[in-house]
Amino acid sequence: MASVETHKNGTAQNLLSKAPWTDEQGISMKIYQGVVLTLEVIVLIVKMYATWFYSIYKFFVPPEPKSVKGEIILITGAGHGMGREMALSFAKLGGTIVCVDINSTGNQETVEMIKDSKGKAHSYLCDVTSRTSINEMAEKIRKEVGEVTILINNAGIMPCKPLLQTGEKEIRTAFEVNCLAHLWTLQAFLPGMMERNHGHIVAMSSMAGVIGLRNLVPYCGTKFAVRGMMEAVHEELREDPRDFSGIKLTCICPYIVDTGLCKNPKIKFPSLMKILSPQEAVEHIVDAVRREYHEITIPSSLYYINQMFRVFPRSVPLHIKDFLDSGLEAQ
Ligand SMILES: NC(=O)c1ccc[n+]([C@@H]2O[C@H](COP(=O)([O-])OP(=O)(O)OC[C@H]3O[C@@H](n4cnc5c(N)ncnc54)[C@H](O)[C@@H]3O)[C@@H](O)[C@H]2O)c1
Repeated sequence: MASVETHKNGTAQNLLSKAPWTDEQGISMKIYQGVVLTLEVIVLIVKMYATWFYSIYKFFVPPEPKSVKGEIILITGAGHGMGREMALSFAKLGGTIVCVDINSTGNQETVEMIKDSKGKAHSYLCDVTSRTSINEMAEKIRKEVGEVTILINNAGIMPCKPLLQTGEKEIRTAFEVNCLAHLWTLQAFLPGMMERNHGHIVAMSSMAGVIGLRNLVPYCGTKFAVRGMMEAVHEELREDPRDFSGIKLTCICPYIVDTGLCKNPKIKFPSLMKILSPQEAVEHIVDAVRREYHEITIPSSLYYINQMFRVFPRSVPLHIKDFLDSGLEAQ
């Protein structure tokens, strides 16, 4: 292909100026390159339209939810809130759950709840900010349970106050738990998925990773970062010459879920932006994982509202934001 030749031998201009072409050969070469480029652009346009129509079709006819029976599903922050609910839901669907939390009591409670309903679960105490602890835990899990096939990076904390009142330690810890921990678990568990070309990585971002919100400057930073990291991992796997199409990625962006994490929510239109129970939110999360969606917001309407208003000049969506007048008050 012309583009490959161009990479190997220098630019097309160099090729033409250096080579001992006759005038006729030079013109033929230019015509050839023009034709190849035109064909490449036509193929690109056809691919784009085909994918666009397929996406519209998939919107109306969503993919069937996959089975998670027999999968080994590791959930960080499984001792409370959405982590616990995900653990219970995936266990009901036949997954073996590896519950990971810094809070041993909550984590053990989740494991007991799963076992009481005849599910399979294991408890591992781990501070996800420690890369060493994660690697040691990963070794133990491999020996005691097996290879993790679904990794759910859920553990998170939320300092909620104006930036200038947020201490250095709070900021660093927020990034360690909400963001860096995702990288450590990926480094620990992705290689096993790559060996088998089978796996699923789920990351908890937030609507605070889609739009900036007051009182949540570091938190927004961590949640925007999670979305960026997930997109980059996706590209790293997609562009690798080996086949990693069996590894799926899902990024979850909930608005406000009633777990106690958001202390002072303020919602002007509760019917439009209702505070969800952890059970309601987890129904959406489990569905998104099983249908292998790339990214969802909870509620889903926020995804489309955001996409639509992002095409306008910056100040336009800000009017909408002011009108909706929702967010979190400082703790
Ligand atoms: N609740 C919401 O409104 C909301 C909205 C958007 C996104 N999220 C995100 O969803 C995820 C879950 O939120 P939640 O509301 O269920 O939280 P939660 O506070 O109910 O539970 C978080 C769990 O993470 C654990 N954890 C905290 N630090 C840890 C560490 N260093 N190592 C291991 N475990 C640790 C806690 O012990 C707890 O069990 C978080 O990432 C959060 O940022 C929550």
